[in-house]
Amino acid sequence: MSLFNVYPLFDITPVKAKDVFVYDENDKEYLDLYGGHAVISIGHSHPEYVKSITDQVAKLGFYSNSIQNPIQVELASKLIQLSGCRDYELFLCNSGAEANENALKLASFHTNKKKVIAFKNSFHGRTSAAVAATDNEKIIAPINAQQEVEILALGDLESLEKSLGKNDVCAVIIECIQGVGGLDESTTAFYEGIDRLCKKYNTCFIADEVQSGYGRTGDFFAFQKYNVTPDIISIAKGMGNGFPIGGILIHPNIKASYGLLGTTFGGNHLACVAGLSVLNVIEQKNLMENVRFISEYFNRIANTIPQIKNIKGRGLMLGLEFDFPISELRKKLIYDYQIFTGSAKNPDLLRILPPLTIRKEHVNQFFEALVNALEDLNH
Ligand SMILES: Cc1ncc(COP(=O)(O)O)c(C=O)c1O
Repeated sequence: MSLFNVYPLFDITPVKAKDVFVYDENDKEYLDLYGGHAVISIGHSHPEYVKSITDQVAKLGFYSNSIQNPIQVELASKLIQLSGCRDYELFLCNSGAEANENALKLASFHTNKKKVIAFKNSFHGRTSAAVAATDNEKIIAPINAQQEVEILALGDLESLEKSLGKNDVCAVIIECIQGVGGLDESTTAFYEGIDRLCKKYNTCFIADEVQSGYGRTGDFFAFQKYNVTPDIISIAKGMGNGFPIGGILIHPNIKASYGLLGTTFGGNHLACVAGLSVLNVIEQKNLMENVRFISEYFNRIANTIPQIKNIKGRGLMLGLEFDFPISELRKKLIYDYQIFTGSAKNPDLLRILPPLTIRKEHVNQFFEALVNALEDLNH
């Protein structure tokens, strides 16, 4: 049987990885500035992470959500402590799309309304309501298109208020820094305006922190740069350092009841120990501080390279914008200089999403390679 062919693949086969490096079957070393798409937070194969998963699977890998699972409770309290989102409650699931799907469903239950507002170039995942709130017609099937979604321009508070005034909107969902779309951000006034208008019109403000959360921007959550209180915060990628886990943080205004949400695998023992060791390492190794320090260093060097027209994003969620499509450059960096980077919907943007453990020497290695690769391609 062959695989259902939905992914264009690079011809590289990683077989092991350590911290910021990935190794193929011939032991060739690759610098990972992609983090498996912003997933690797504490570095590949971190020893505490490996030990916690190994020990747990030998004891109890899985049981259902019908029994007590103290590791879920421990994960929730550590997450609340590190994020500073004090009164929120946690619901655990398995991926970013699932987190947003549950967030949208909960918003609809809570407000008893059903329309969703999302923004141009947004990406929220590929499940039913999440994909309908994603601004990409190519991945929305007819079955998803029946969801009522309005896509507004990023920054357009006036249209937002007009739509919310019709009183049929259950949720406004937004990435405070767009990931897949290409690292665009709006203004403080816009994010704070969303917060204010959502409260005024009894609509849930959903902050999609699937990619920008878990310290990637230098704050635990990207929205924390603003004076806002989202009703629901969705999380996933950096949360398990590669172990599939996602979740939503829910403001105490929204009340739980038995059966409102549910999942078989979400919050299983293995996922929870993975998630807990990620938070422990972020705290012990001061990784958010490292993000800020390395980001500043990275930006300083990037600013000296004339071919880079624009540096977008925050922390270690960055985009380097050129005035030409970067697909050849990205290939060259992988095949000739052994460096993984990412792409975006914006074809001119090279994305930088490394493990949060990255150090100056790796940044130097990248820029040396970038300068050479640009020269090789006559840019
Ligand atoms: C902001 C954002 N939300 C949701 C998702 C979907 O997450 P997943 O692929 O885990 O379903 C992604 C994935 O790239 C994302 O970047």
